[in-house]
Amino acid sequence: MKTENTFALVTGASSGIGLEISKSLAKRGYNLVLTARSEDKLKLLANEVSKKYGVKVKVFPCDLSEKNAPESIFKFCKSNQFVVSILVNNAGFANPDKFHRTSMEDEERFIRVLGISVIALTKLFIDQMINNKYGRIMIVSSVAAYAPPSVIQSLYGPIKTFMNRFSESLNTSYNYIGITSTAVCPGYTVTNFHTASGVQDEMDRVPKFLKKDAKTIAEQAVHATLEGKKVCVPTLTWKIIVFLIKVLPNSIFSIASKAMAPGRYDK
Ligand SMILES: NC(=O)c1ccc[n+]([C@@H]2O[C@H](COP(=O)([O-])OP(=O)(O)OC[C@H]3O[C@@H](n4cnc5c(N)ncnc54)[C@H](OP(=O)(O)O)[C@@H]3O)[C@@H](O)[C@H]2O)c1
Repeated sequence: MKTENTFALVTGASSGIGLEISKSLAKRGYNLVLTARSEDKLKLLANEVSKKYGVKVKVFPCDLSEKNAPESIFKFCKSNQFVVSILVNNAGFANPDKFHRTSMEDEERFIRVLGISVIALTKLFIDQMINNKYGRIMIVSSVAAYAPPSVIQSLYGPIKTFMNRFSESLNTSYNYIGITSTAVCPGYTVTNFHTASGVQDEMDRVPKFLKKDAKTIAEQAVHATLEGKKVCVPTLTWKIIVFLIKVLPNSIFSIASKAMAPGRYDK
């Protein structure tokens, strides 16, 4: 659904997968509302894509670890009469330490950005989608939703599994009126994520063939979302790996994970 006042809202648009998703949507002619904390990066991106693709691009910088952030994004859209027909919940990071070394505040911030804000934004924008009988929701989850848990980032896999289940629930409840939710589950992707999350050393040790570029991930994610697919595991490599995770015993996968992602599974 594209009109002058319809927009795709992208969280975590300042870098990595979110930045490439924004470009991919703009290329397809969608107006954008971009959000993340880094205002400068958002403005640069807005300038680039609005010039290149002739779409409207608005930026709304905010920190999704703050309780009121989803409401302020919603108010910004509402006061400008933007109708959000595509909601991309992408912002994310991870706490690098073992569970006993992170503070409860660290975990709360993490759950707010990767979990609560996703639910809050969906809740705020879904009424418009119901009224218009159309909505595309993307939740950028991860292969971690299926993989064996690692010894660091204890809550990362669990919150991504939760998000996949939340996405399934949205499909069950709203597919019949034209609203779909796509859980996008990338494997290792070369972005700022690992540096920002303090695990770049571990990422450097992952074999090259497992690391994909953000543009490829974003293209496949956007295509699947617009098509209304329920789950998207971008790239053939990671589709095969997720298939194997589902059919092989967990113990085999834990051994393979130790070999392929050293540092994440060492005690
Ligand atoms: N990279 C991977 O290997 C990989 C694999 C599977 C899934 N994912 C998922 O993909 C998504 C995007 O990550 P990425 O790899 O593209 O990493 P990235 O390059 O670090 O981008 C993360 C984005 O989230 C934003 N963000 C982080 N904390 C925020 C906060 N408190 N409030 C608002 N925005 C915040 C960042 O912007 P600011 O810093 O400007 O706020 C940035 O735009 C995440 O959900 C991640 O879990 C990544």
